[in-house]
This record gives sequence, structure tokens and C-alpha cells, in this order.
Amino acid sequence: MGYLSKVSAKEYIHVPVLLTEVVNSLVTSKKGVYVDATYGRGGHSSQILGQLSAEACVVAIDRDTSAIDSAKLFAIKDPRLMPFHSLYSELEIVLERLGISSVEGILMDLGVSSPQLDDPERGFSFQTEGPLDMRMDQTINLTAHSWLNNASQDEIESILKELGDEKRGRQIAREIVRRRPLSTTVELSNVIVEVKGPKSLSNRRHPATKTFQALRMVVNSELEELSKGLKKAFECLSVGGRLVVVSFHSHEDRIVKSFFRELCGKGLSLPRKMPVQEELVVPKAKLIGGPIRPGQKEINQNPRARSAVMRVVEKIRSIES
Ligand SMILES: C[S@@+](CC[C@H](N)C(=O)[O-])C[C@H]1O[C@@H](n2cnc3c(N)ncnc32)[C@H](O)[C@@H]1O
Repeated sequence: MGYLSKVSAKEYIHVPVLLTEVVNSLVTSKKGVYVDATYGRGGHSSQILGQLSAEACVVAIDRDTSAIDSAKLFAIKDPRLMPFHSLYSELEIVLERLGISSVEGILMDLGVSSPQLDDPERGFSFQTEGPLDMRMDQTINLTAHSWLNNASQDEIESILKELGDEKRGRQIAREIVRRRPLSTTVELSNVIVEVKGPKSLSNRRHPATKTFQALRMVVNSELEELSKGLKKAFECLSVGGRLVVVSFHSHEDRIVKSFFRELCGKGLSLPRKMPVQEELVVPKAKLIGGPIRPGQKEINQNPRARSAVMRVVEKIRSIES
């Protein structure tokens, strides 16, 4: 994620998080193919390209059509950038179309971008009035509006508790169902403030933060995408290639951490003497350092970086070998 800076009426920029750390961990060779699986507004891509030779390239993927429009403009200036509108879980299809069998490095910078958060029309923010949309990919049918107005009270309660860690999930779900249909971000936000009471507005975090986060995650199937995307990304890496993931949410980081541990042969706790398939325990990757978080200086300059955690893994063996 990144810090808001509104440039003009409809133009928002995104400040890339952990920029130097990401690029230094990802780029191990000046040549070859790299993938920015979450292009956003290209802050990381442009820095990665700055490290690469004239023959190298960056395949830029995003599920958001506005992000890809912005990547296409960038590609006019630097044709080493190759933009594709796709889910990152479909990376192998993109690479197949390009005739690429494996790549030197892949970046996944998770979550929403500042342009998505800050444009009221996208419906991600509880602070500005907008339609209850929250789709990262504007071409899919499911919106926050259709999900919220059709889900059962139990379904709403369960996503609020599981994806939002919202302690008042039951009361909020009950009130949402009682007040439906809800059409705008502010209508939903007001329901939550009523449940939590006006005093909750003086807390450090806005009372609607957790509900909006949970709803966004369900509309975009974020955790399912992440699990599929990590597997696909690792399959597409060359031996010696690196996968760098920046997450912003404890659920995301837990998935990344456990996938990386499994790749490094540390994920399984098996009873001694139990016969196991070799492929389950032979490490296919090694961890590059531990989790990296932004320093106070970066957080002061870009408050949206505060919950970021970067993890890096390097492939040491192909899946088949
Ligand atoms: C935090 S932003 C990336 C910002 C980018 N690193 C930059 O410097 O501008 C995350 C981006 O990932 C995209 N995204 C999220 N999930 C995705 C998925 N499953 N497949 C493809 N893109 C995805 C979002 O649309 C968003 O543009």
C-alpha cells in the first residue's frame, strides 16, 4: 500500500513500500525476466527496471484495469515493461502466452493501492461517500453491494469475525441485515458507528476499518487468491530465482510464512519413524533473511506502510527434482 497524493481531479499516486529493500532482495541478475505481480502504479516496477539491462524485461500484472492502463502508458516510454490484465494466480497462462518458461524473480505487494483506496468511486473508503463497490477488478460482477445485500446474517457475522477480527461482528451483522438495502460507503459506516457508539470515533482507528477490510477481502477472494498465487509464483521461478512478498494483514502474513516454511522443509511436524514422501521434506527453497518491516522514518513519511512485512524466499530446487 502507499501514501495518498492526489495529483489532479482523477489522478492518484501510490508511494511504494519498502522500495529499496524489495528491489535489493528481488534483483539477483541484471538479465532475464522479472514479474511484478501487483503493478499498482508501478513504483516497484520502475525501480526494478532501473537495475536491469536493456535486454531484460518486467512482466507487469494487475487485476485492476486502471493499473494496467497506467502500465501501458509507462510501456510506451520503456518497452521493457510488458503489462497484462490478469490475476496473479494465472501467472503461468500469462508467461505461456509470452513463451516464457521461468523467471528470475517475482514480487507480490499485496492489498489495495492508494488509487483504489482514495478514489471515492471505487467504494473502498469509509471516509468518503461512494457506491459500495470494492472490486479490485472492475470487470467482475460481484460488488460489496451485491454481497452485503444478499448474504445471510450468519455469513456476514462470520466474515467480520474471521477476516476483520471484529469483536462486535454479531451486532454489526444484525444491524446491517435490519437496515438493508445499503447502497453507499457512508451508509454502511454510519451503521457501524451506531452499533459502536459515537465515542468510538475518537479511537485511533475508525470504527468501520475492520468491517471494510473484511468486506473487501471477501469481494476479491483475497486469501484464496494469495494461496493459489504463491504456489503458481513458486512454480514459475527459475532455480536461484526469488519470490518477494509484502503483506499488510496478519492473515496474509500467516499464509505467506507457512507457505515459505513448507518450501524450506520446516512446515511439517511428523511423528518420528513415520514413513513420509521425500518430496514433502526435501527443501525446495531457502529463506533470505527474516521478516523485514519499515523503519520509523518510512512510516512517518508514509503512514500506510505501518503494517507492512516483507518476506523473501529463494528457489534452490525445482518442484519435480
Ligand atoms: C499495494 S498495490 C501494489 C502497488 C505497487 N507495488 C506500486 O508500487 O505501485 C496492490 C495491487 O495489487 C493488485 N492485486 C491485488 N490482488 C491481485 C491479484 N490476485 N492479481 C493481480 N493483481 C492483484 C491490486 O489491484 C493493486 O493494484
